Amino acid sequence: MARLDPHSYAESEQPVTERIDLALKVDFAQRVLSGEVLLTLREPSAGPLDLDTRDLRIGAVETPDGAPLRYELGAPERILGTRLRVQLPPATRAIRVRYSTSPQASALQWLAPSQTAGGQHPYLYSQCQPIHARSLAPLQDTARIRVRAGARFTVPAHLRALMAAAPLGREVAGEGEVIDLFEMPQPIPPYLLAFAVGDLSPRQLSQRSAVWAERSVADAAAWELDGVETMLQVAEDLFGPYEWERYDILVMPPSFPFGGMENPRLTFATPSLLAGDRSLVNVIAHELAHAWTGNLVSNATLEHFWLNEGFTVYAERRILEALEGAEAAELHAAVGLHELEVSLKRFATRPELTRLRTQMAGVDPDEAYSTVPYEKGYLFLRRLEELTGRERWDRFLRAYLDRFRFQSIATEDFLRFLDERLPGVSARAGAQRWIDGPGLPPDAPRPQSRRLEELRELARRTGQGVLPDENTAVRMQPTELLVFLQSLPELPAEVCGQLDALLGLSRRRSLELRHTFVLVQLRAGVEAGREAARRVLRETGRMKYLRPIYTELARRPQTRALAREIYDEARESYHPIARTVVESILG
Ligand code: BES
Ligand code: ZN
Repeated sequence: MARLDPHSYAESEQPVTERIDLALKVDFAQRVLSGEVLLTLREPSAGPLDLDTRDLRIGAVETPDGAPLRYELGAPERILGTRLRVQLPPATRAIRVRYSTSPQASALQWLAPSQTAGGQHPYLYSQCQPIHARSLAPLQDTARIRVRAGARFTVPAHLRALMAAAPLGREVAGEGEVIDLFEMPQPIPPYLLAFAVGDLSPRQLSQRSAVWAERSVADAAAWELDGVETMLQVAEDLFGPYEWERYDILVMPPSFPFGGMENPRLTFATPSLLAGDRSLVNVIAHELAHAWTGNLVSNATLEHFWLNEGFTVYAERRILEALEGAEAAELHAAVGLHELEVSLKRFATRPELTRLRTQMAGVDPDEAYSTVPYEKGYLFLRRLEELTGRERWDRFLRAYLDRFRFQSIATEDFLRFLDERLPGVSARAGAQRWIDGPGLPPDAPRPQSRRLEELRELARRTGQGVLPDENTAVRMQPTELLVFLQSLPELPAEVCGQLDALLGLSRRRSLELRHTFVLVQLRAGVEAGREAARRVLRETGRMKYLRPIYTELARRPQTRALAREIYDEARESYHPIARTVVESILG
């Protein structure tokens, strides 16, 4: 017997789940889900079955006809949670577990009405990646075991449940309650199970696409995401038919800790995407690309996370290139490289986390999370493309997606396929060094373009007190501005103020720009930076914006107390994962 995955109790010789059926009542008052899960096995089985759980209260484990089964809960472990071992009698096809979740379930965030845009109704959402599905239901919580799923959510009648699955309609349950029904017919890794409950309204974007949001943001969301159908078509041209029927997007409350989450058929997206200028749709390109890289072909475990994220950043930039041209895609690559350099510095004392293939036993994936698998993975694939030539490389990509569709694979599977289809390329790229070595190889591709050079030159001159002229300034597009800001050296305080006057940075809606400018302000030591930081940190729970600002505040003695003060004000509104991140920064 061996573990299938360092982050799951699932054992290699044990029965395998084929299907999960959830029937859960959503209790906003108690902040628990209660009900049952039916786990159907691939074949009639016997003997022990080890399931992952975290903070669940198990009521009973039984056969589908209700005969009780013997089970035993292990001692809880910090990262893995608690093993639930069920003894299956001969020829068991399915088991039912009656249980309820904890108010602290790590996959769930329960929001009070005051924490929503509308302020009237509570809101609940799940975030299972990387290993939180086990706090929603007992299951084999490893991406190696793909499952089909059905769900019945009993919710207050004035709200609605949405699931990353096909909706099957609604039943009346009684006393002000309804049951929303769903089915996910394609086999998915458990980290892609996802749902939300709230006062949600749709806006159609196309035949196969809609955006859902709280009423008060729905119109803004529909405007920002107007281009989704075009994006779908471009993605299909690049990667083959979209396999999930619908592509809907759910705009989350501000506390959502990520930019986006690629839940199948229903991407979850941060409301900070709604910048009012469509400048952040690359996040949608990214989550949409996961429909191929990640959801169709999935990483087998988090040790191969780069297969999900590196491929998806690569695919995202191919989509952007097709939509907006090579210059625009190159600007995004430069932004990505900047973020990679920041992460490589952060992990200077833990270089093993800067490999593409990692060793994760005993490592909490939420703590190891960084942009390394994204941007180093991207550069590796770009290097492979460079050596292969675009046409052949694109044919290879299609073949890869086709070969491994609806499978969960390891880095070795990718490398074997690469050697088989493009012999010699892996050796010429020094793949081994990319995969198992730390940091970036010296021959890593470097984003380059005329525009990038110009922006870096503008930033250099600004550092010397020579600002861009008005004409240049008004013409700078959001992503150009971002590259410009990231390229700035430390500024004298008065230049920082002039720059703000010129570009109106602290008045922008885009948190992408505003948070980057806050970092510039804090480094310049300007007073205005303190309140600007506070505004960003209270407006969003997106970790991408929280991490750098708290880090910058905590780094210098003058602002360390301020960091604490802001965190105390904002803590309630952050997702538990984000709280852990901020607390580790504040020490
Ligand atoms: N799948 C990730 C989000 C994630 C990763 C959640 C690991 C939990 C654990 C998602 O696709 C993602 O990468 N989002 C990015 C988008 C960006 C790279 C465009 C984000 O949230 O910023
Ligand atoms: Zn991603």
